[in-house]
Amino acid sequence: MTPQPEPLMDASCHAVLPQYFDSFVWLSPPTHPRASHDEVHVWRVSLDQLQAPKFVALLDDDERLRAARFRFPEHRNRFTVARGALRTILGRYLEVEPVALQFSYGSYGKPALAEGFPTINFNLSHSGEFMLLAVTRGREVGIDIELIKQEFATTEVADRFFSRREILSLRSQARQLQTEGFFNCWTRKEAYIKARGEGLSLPLDQFDVSLEPARAALLDNRISPGEVSRWSLQELHPAPAYCAAVAVEGLSWKLRLIDFSSRTLV
Ligand SMILES: CC(C)(COP(=O)(O)OP(=O)(O)OC[C@H]1O[C@@H](n2cnc3c(N)ncnc32)[C@H](O)[C@@H]1OP(=O)(O)O)[C@@H](O)C(=O)NCCC(=O)NCCS
Repeated sequence: MTPQPEPLMDASCHAVLPQYFDSFVWLSPPTHPRASHDEVHVWRVSLDQLQAPKFVALLDDDERLRAARFRFPEHRNRFTVARGALRTILGRYLEVEPVALQFSYGSYGKPALAEGFPTINFNLSHSGEFMLLAVTRGREVGIDIELIKQEFATTEVADRFFSRREILSLRSQARQLQTEGFFNCWTRKEAYIKARGEGLSLPLDQFDVSLEPARAALLDNRISPGEVSRWSLQELHPAPAYCAAVAVEGLSWKLRLIDFSSRTLV
């Protein structure tokens, strides 16, 4: 295969570049991925293209119990693949067998590697047939992916979850751009909440994110104004009909997009 250049993007650059959308190239996984402070790796996992039985043996008892609670096989399989892929990918970074990894959970449920494992920061999100996993080191990170459902992007939902400024911004957009604006807002808010890891302890109406394409940003935090310069947001384009964003602590980092496929397992 012809080697491709790495699409490294400067997250502190919010300008809309003409080649912006072309730069979302998902690369084959490196054999020995390294988590570094300078980079954020986002792994895309297509949950329906991988076979759950290959991953079952990697899960611990709690994960198998969680899988068993899903009523529909499709959801059970997706959960199993997601946890198995998470373990496989993190195991590659740490050079540890996937099955040996242990997790701990913050007060609001944010997973981290248990004490004793090298510290790498990660966060994951799944929607429909995709999971995204963000990996970095020494920075908090949060990620969100949503399958775009037009019927969900209503005024009622926006009024309930978005801030005043976000609602006004959404209403000011051309009608044909409102669904995209809605999901840009939703994924950016969710990614920021997940990066902080404190659930809804920061009320959703107390901070604002941008809605415009290619200009993801935290615009205001009325409880802690200093937060605005502490975080950078980046939108992602994992697949048609999906919207996603990653929130990262700090301003200077490079994004690397990686596709996890069955060949990764070989
Ligand atoms: C986890 C949470 C933050 C998001 O859940 P979600 O959007 O349904 O699901 P996602 O797929 O994006 O994320 C789930 C993953 O996030 C991780 N997670 C769980 N709790 C978390 C937390 N407090 N912070 C960060 N990540 C968390 C887990 O890995 C989880 O996956 P797993 O259970 O399979 O291991 C949940 O607390 C939530 O739904 N909060 C509501 C937030 C809200 O109202 N948002 C509106 C946005 S406008």
